Amino acid sequence: MPNDDSRLANLLHETRLFPPSESFRKDANFNDDSVYDRAQQDPEGFWSEQAQHLSWFTPFENVLSWEPPHAKWFEGGKLNVTYNCVDRHRQGPRKNKAAIMWEGEPGDSRVFTYDMLGREVDRAAHMLQSLGVQRGDRVTIYLPMIPELPISLLACAKIGAIHSVVFGGFSSKALRERIIDADAKLLITADAGWRRGALIPLKANADEAVVDTPTETVVVVQRVGEKAGVTMQAGRDVYWHEAMAKAPSAPFPAAEMDAEDILFLLYTSGTTGKPKGIVHTTGGYLTVANTSVRSVFDMKDDDVFFCTADIGWVTGHTYIVYGPLSAGATVVMYEGSPDFPGRDRFWDIVEKYGVSILYTAPTSIRTFMKWGAQYPKAHNLSSLRLLGTVGEPINPEAWMWYHEHIGHGRCPIVDTWWQTETGAAMIAPLPGLTATKPGSATRPVPGIDADVVDENGQSVAPGNGGYLVIRKPWPSMLRTIWGDDERFRKTYYGKFDGIYLPGDGAHKDADGYVWILGRIDDVINVSGHRIGTMEVESALVSHHMVAEAAVIGRSHDIKGQAITAFVTVKEGIATGESLVAELKQHVAESIGAMARPEEIIFTAELPKTRSGKIMRRLLRDIAEGRVLGDTTTLADPSVVESLKAQYRESE
Ligand code: PRX
Repeated sequence: MPNDDSRLANLLHETRLFPPSESFRKDANFNDDSVYDRAQQDPEGFWSEQAQHLSWFTPFENVLSWEPPHAKWFEGGKLNVTYNCVDRHRQGPRKNKAAIMWEGEPGDSRVFTYDMLGREVDRAAHMLQSLGVQRGDRVTIYLPMIPELPISLLACAKIGAIHSVVFGGFSSKALRERIIDADAKLLITADAGWRRGALIPLKANADEAVVDTPTETVVVVQRVGEKAGVTMQAGRDVYWHEAMAKAPSAPFPAAEMDAEDILFLLYTSGTTGKPKGIVHTTGGYLTVANTSVRSVFDMKDDDVFFCTADIGWVTGHTYIVYGPLSAGATVVMYEGSPDFPGRDRFWDIVEKYGVSILYTAPTSIRTFMKWGAQYPKAHNLSSLRLLGTVGEPINPEAWMWYHEHIGHGRCPIVDTWWQTETGAAMIAPLPGLTATKPGSATRPVPGIDADVVDENGQSVAPGNGGYLVIRKPWPSMLRTIWGDDERFRKTYYGKFDGIYLPGDGAHKDADGYVWILGRIDDVINVSGHRIGTMEVESALVSHHMVAEAAVIGRSHDIKGQAITAFVTVKEGIATGESLVAELKQHVAESIGAMARPEEIIFTAELPKTRSGKIMRRLLRDIAEGRVLGDTTTLADPSVVESLKAQYRESE
């Protein structure tokens, strides 16, 4: 049974309640409580109604067909996501409204109105088509946070090609793995990206990644220029700006996609070393993304929405690109990090663009807290009216700091629980209706039947904990894992028949509010990034000096969780500081910098049960300095004593 005792103990003392103000409620898009009951009684009717906010070429005939674990939503319906996110807005009063206001790390900026965005997307669609991309083909995208990134997504969707975005922080090896799994014929990358004034060698990584893969063409956006020092391979590589210049400027006809055609793949970590290609489809995903920005984010036409995530993760897909643009909103997109050139960069951006809705991660909020309130204080943040968080549980202290120092006590906070697999926020307040509690994502949004259940799948009584589940299918649910339907079935529908298991533990309080406790599987959440322990272990044992490795997540003040690796080296290998550094670097190169272990502890042996299973719980206890629990099943109890001593030494 999932449990996180310290978090739970803390949360149970939380009694503060923040009801929406009368003025917020009055103007909110969703301000009639009856929506919850209506949606619960008739979820299909509710989603069918929400789907009417999209433009369909052909209306759907059937709302849902459900043969667990396979759902089909809006069958018979035909639509195009890019038509919905861009073209329909070009035909009305939003034509010259800002769609994307982009801020580059070095301070350069670009604004795209819906009309300008549409022209760029059409040209990019022509370009991709001329390079051989057709409906149903996979295109991998490995770009920094520059406008060509959303343009590439939207161009793929206009053609009906399936995009697979790989976060720019991933290594060449991780990129390669994802290219091969998706069988992608084309890759879009950049010469390099900026990060705190330094260069990220994206093209060099891409060169290594595509060797002997199905990728025949690499399109290279020139973000940095000369300094990046890239070499172009004749016959394979083309510059984005050159190919765009050759492409026709005529409108590109939007492909009429079936509601169930695949829109994108997005890889995420699971309990095995192999990442999962999460499959999202067209009509259902867009319906929930669109509903979510109108309901949870209360998006109005004059809002300026700043989601600080990278489009390489699902949050950026749904809340920078598809959700807000489908609703005709204005988004701010930022290329760099929050502390470059100064620790007030986000607040500077909020002030510069008049951001009204800010969506960020608890790890960032904790970092801002550490830096101090003087940074936000130096800026005029009066444009803000709503705040959001996502990615990991937020501790009440961080929630309160966000509320006071960023929201000035005025802005509701929506703590949104969801996953790559769910497509959009599933448990979150509706800011005009829900009284919030610091640290709780509150209750499922209308149309989502989420609950906390016990080992037998029975709803737990208020005041108890268990497994978080979603009982009924919903339109933006993942349809399968790309190329591995059996893994899909086992991972998400293997425990409870026909009920979705997200892999999180949760507690339900006396008011029925949900408190997420964290993952119940071997997945670590480092600064809101999901990392499988197996991935890091595989990376470590791929080093020629390593015999065995066990990786755990331990609690960390800023990152939420940090990676601790226990490593056994091969006979005769000397351990020491330089090997620690080398192994950390090896993991960063194998997966990406976000997977770099915080600490590495060398040990002659790992604690194992008599049947040979590594006792991770015990390792976690050691890393978190807790009194050790039951070690009676341990094969050799002295292993633990020496590990404990060593861990203390390393601190
Ligand atoms: O453990 C939950 C945590 O992040 C996981 C999903 O990670 P990913 O697919 O990368 O998507 C992150 C952004 C949607 C979940 O299983 N998580 C996400 N949001 C919250 C959260 N935990 C607690 N509270 C949240 N608001």
